[in-house]
Amino acid sequence: MKIISQKIKIKEFVQNKKKLGFVPTMGGIHDGHISLIKRSIRECDNTVVSIFVNKQQFNNKNDFARYPRNIKNDIKRLNKLKIDMLYLPRHKEIYIKGYNKNIKINPFRKKLCGKFRPGHFEGVVDVVDRFIKIINPMRVYFGEKDFQQLKILEDFIKKNHPKCRVVSCKTLREKNGVPFSSRNFLLNCGERKVASKIFKLIKNSKKKLILKVISIKKIKNIISALGVKKIDYIKILDINKIIKPHQKKNKYKIFLAYYIGKTRLIDNI
Ligand code: PAJ
Repeated sequence: MKIISQKIKIKEFVQNKKKLGFVPTMGGIHDGHISLIKRSIRECDNTVVSIFVNKQQFNNKNDFARYPRNIKNDIKRLNKLKIDMLYLPRHKEIYIKGYNKNIKINPFRKKLCGKFRPGHFEGVVDVVDRFIKIINPMRVYFGEKDFQQLKILEDFIKKNHPKCRVVSCKTLREKNGVPFSSRNFLLNCGERKVASKIFKLIKNSKKKLILKVISIKKIKNIISALGVKKIDYIKILDINKIIKPHQKKNKYKIFLAYYIGKTRLIDNI
């Protein structure tokens, strides 16, 4: 696995690579990331993985400062896979002329996490747009764990990079049901147990929530009683009606974002 930071070098490397897969990450590599990377390796001739903690998408300075960074461990894990290239860009090289303020993003950006993290999806789309322009992949891999991000990027990439196909990958979960996430590194044992209880509660209540046999308020009260002080949202959405054109079929998912201590966790079930 080659490791490159310079834009010129990565551009040289990707030249003439026809079936190129790309997996963008912010590091803190875990099994969820690995599942995306393995899929790219299976489906493409060459795979590029990037690690870049994109300051622009953090609406909160402390959240950016606390974000788990462990590049040595990440490289160790990635070295075990057959990746061609690890791209570790520098902030300056990605944002030479500053952020792009005129990017057009689907209005779905304003819902769910967008309401609570102003500017977040603008930052995500801006950086992914820049990466696609540099790397020019045939396929780019995103996880359903970040469902809103996936749908917004899918829409943006279809419109702006029609030659690049978005591949959506299932959420990989720990044995306790909690989705793998870099932010789990910030949780202690007791906090992980709380996250697991919340997952099980939502999973077991999903049908009742959709049929309105149980209210979201009741679920929020149960979660609060587990010691959770802040719940950004718990919402039931028909995922076929999130982004136009709408599909006829109904498929509901429960979306949630909450804090355990200072750590913000999201899931969709
Ligand atoms: P990051 O949180 O590092 O996630 C990188 C990719 O891994 C995303 O597509 C995410 O949805 C996927 N992923 C994370 N946890 C997963 C899990 N448990 N199962 C399956 N896939 C999972 O998402 C970002 O980084 C950034 O916003 C990025 C797209 C890189 C732009 O900066």
